Amino acid sequence: MGQDDIAQSQHYLSSDDRDGFYRTLFNRRDVRSEFLSTPVPDEVLARVLYAAHHAPSVGFMQPWDFTVIKSHAVKQKVHVAFQKANAEAAEQFVDERQAKYKQLKLAGIVDAPINLCITCDRERSGKVVLGRTHMPEMDLYSTVCAVQNLWLAARAEGLGVGWVSIIETDDLKQALGISGQIVPIAYLCIGYVDHFRAQPELASKGWRQRMSLHELVHSEQWGQEMDAELAAGIAQQADFPDAYKE
Ligand SMILES: Cc1cc2nc3c(=O)[nH]c(=O)nc-3n(C[C@H](O)[C@H](O)[C@H](O)COP(=O)(O)O)c2cc1C
Repeated sequence: MGQDDIAQSQHYLSSDDRDGFYRTLFNRRDVRSEFLSTPVPDEVLARVLYAAHHAPSVGFMQPWDFTVIKSHAVKQKVHVAFQKANAEAAEQFVDERQAKYKQLKLAGIVDAPINLCITCDRERSGKVVLGRTHMPEMDLYSTVCAVQNLWLAARAEGLGVGWVSIIETDDLKQALGISGQIVPIAYLCIGYVDHFRAQPELASKGWRQRMSLHELVHSEQWGQEMDAELAAGIAQQADFPDAYKE
């Protein structure tokens, strides 16, 4: 064991630290409507970027780049691309569902003081990457891990984050000068918020509800019911997330 490694006897978090982690996780929200114009200090932004950069990645490839957008002009270009895509997306739904879709606010691009595009460089460490030979998409998933790290760190800092995926990839690449093998993974709106909603906005607005964990956990084979002991454990912990709601 190296000098800085963490011994088995010391690797547990204190219960306060553990509570802080779960409080962050269960109170994270996707934010579109509640952004304040309050500037985000660069030192805070730096911390959440460090958190993102410490995500796991296949072959330690670290395929991500972080493009920080503060200028209104660039945000406006992306916003126009969003509006176009959002109008197209609305056409995928009919009747009441379409009416409901049109009432949803699905991006806070121009409201949020910071926009951030997290991209994946598919050739960051050469053509052959340890761990990616049979699943070439693992670099993309690694970049998503960076997004989630950032999302949680932002919540711990009291910052809201909203992920905007209703944009044509080519429009986003054009707006941000992204070329070649670089793939935009996440376009994020970041800022302090008036409040964090208790529930996902899509749930409270009646679009879709959280599924029961019982339906989603299986034993031994995909789709098979989980074993009775685990089912009992999951039932017993049913209030676990709510215990951390602020
Ligand atoms: C990959 C991804 C793309 C998303 N794209 C959008 C989007 O374009 N617009 C939007 O309003 N929310 C978007 N969301 C946010 C989801 O709607 C949100 O995570 C979900 O409703 C659950 O809410 P919560 O994040 O507050 O728990 C996206 C989330 C993910 C993970």
